[in-house]
Amino acid sequence: MEGPKKNTSRRRFFLLVWGSFLAGVLLSVASSIRFLFPNILYEPESKMEAEKPGKYLLNGIVSYSNSGVYVLRDEKGIYAMSGICTHQGCLISWNDVKKEFFCPCHGSSFSIEGKVRMPPAKFDLTHYGVKLNRKGKVVVNLKRLVEPHFRLVI
Ligand code: FES
Repeated sequence: MEGPKKNTSRRRFFLLVWGSFLAGVLLSVASSIRFLFPNILYEPESKMEAEKPGKYLLNGIVSYSNSGVYVLRDEKGIYAMSGICTHQGCLISWNDVKKEFFCPCHGSSFSIEGKVRMPPAKFDLTHYGVKLNRKGKVVVNLKRLVEPHFRLVI
């Protein structure tokens, strides 16, 4: 009468041992696979391909919110500025009524050329280099900082 009971407990024991062994093997394989894909932060693109120059109208402002960049055109040419406030890094937006960039975080404002109009921001907006690529499109180089008077003359 005790034979089948012993078999059942022995079977459970082996299932437990094999289950633990398989769980260990699966965890080991999973961590090995995870090791093949390390946590890497890829740098953001250093260049942003924008539109053909005809897209930028005189005194027009085009926002590229994904890149935090504005491309503008005045009578001197096309230029690009950062859309990130120099105070603490909030995204600015264009206020068409006041004709200025406005930061919603602490109220700084900037002229259309990026000069500080209203603190607390102390520094003007960053200007980026722009040029045309082979396709005839404006390319903003986010790694090339230029003087505020820099223009792509078309
Ligand atoms: S982050 Fe723009 S004013 Fe503070």
